[in-house]
Amino acid sequence: MISKETYTLRNGVKLPKVGFGTWQIPPGDQTFNAVRDALSVGYRHIDTAEGYQNERSVGDAIRASKIPREDVFVTSKLESHIKTFEGALAAFDKTLEELGFDYLDLFLIHAPWPWSEIGKDCREGNVLAYKAMEQRHREGRIRAIGVSNFSPDDLVNIIEHTEIVPHVNQIGYFIGLDQKETIDFCNDKGIFVEAYSPLGIGYLLKNETLIEMAKRYQVSAAQIAIRYLLDKGVCPLPKSVHKHRMVENITLDFHISKEDTKVLDAIKGDPRRWQ
Ligand code: A2P
Repeated sequence: MISKETYTLRNGVKLPKVGFGTWQIPPGDQTFNAVRDALSVGYRHIDTAEGYQNERSVGDAIRASKIPREDVFVTSKLESHIKTFEGALAAFDKTLEELGFDYLDLFLIHAPWPWSEIGKDCREGNVLAYKAMEQRHREGRIRAIGVSNFSPDDLVNIIEHTEIVPHVNQIGYFIGLDQKETIDFCNDKGIFVEAYSPLGIGYLLKNETLIEMAKRYQVSAAQIAIRYLLDKGVCPLPKSVHKHRMVENITLDFHISKEDTKVLDAIKGDPRRWQ
């Protein structure tokens, strides 16, 4: 099963090839039930964030599953407005407390700027926050560290002013949004790419080309979208609150031909903006 196969980060840490995304799942019962279901159908990689406000429910569901902690790869993210050393240390500690864990597998700076000030120059603050994460990594409390939504320029700033080249950059990556420049840069530096919104938050699934292709392969449009990203060597993080879709999204034992991959490569434009 694809959710049990792993990729290996530059520092040797392994992560299951498909993760379960929890963005937009409300805290409490909804996150608890979704993560419980995801674990029960085979996911062993859960992606959360301080900003999703559902870390506590994620931790509760993992504990309730009785699956050993070390068998589940868990990612969280530093809130986008925290750009100080002390602030990042404290926020990380709060993340562990919310999850109820004594270590985290992967911790990321959620964005290069606060969501309320997209594009703001936070170069200095990103370095300070990242240095705090390096410290917790050295202390053995985070197995791998990285960033999210970082452009090549944002990454250069981190690489030039800190010790550890980020292990991961998690970006919005899906058919229609090829992210070529960022992916080429990450591949060159050994920064592993994770793909959030692999289904374009669901909008991609309305694409006629995808629907036609899915029929031919006797799979769903979602399965085509996720398989496509795996073929690119990245880790997709699909979100669903429906168990049958969770199963579908990790049932990927088929291959997209080279010709069809080219057809998918040629689809342009962010599906989140298609109507
Ligand atoms: P739901 O949670 O109601 O199942 P992304 O992972 O790109 O953010 O996309 C998530 C969106 O796609 C959610 O609205 C989710 O709805 C929907 N979704 C997830 N998996 C599938 C699937 N296999 N088929 C159809 N829709 C799906």
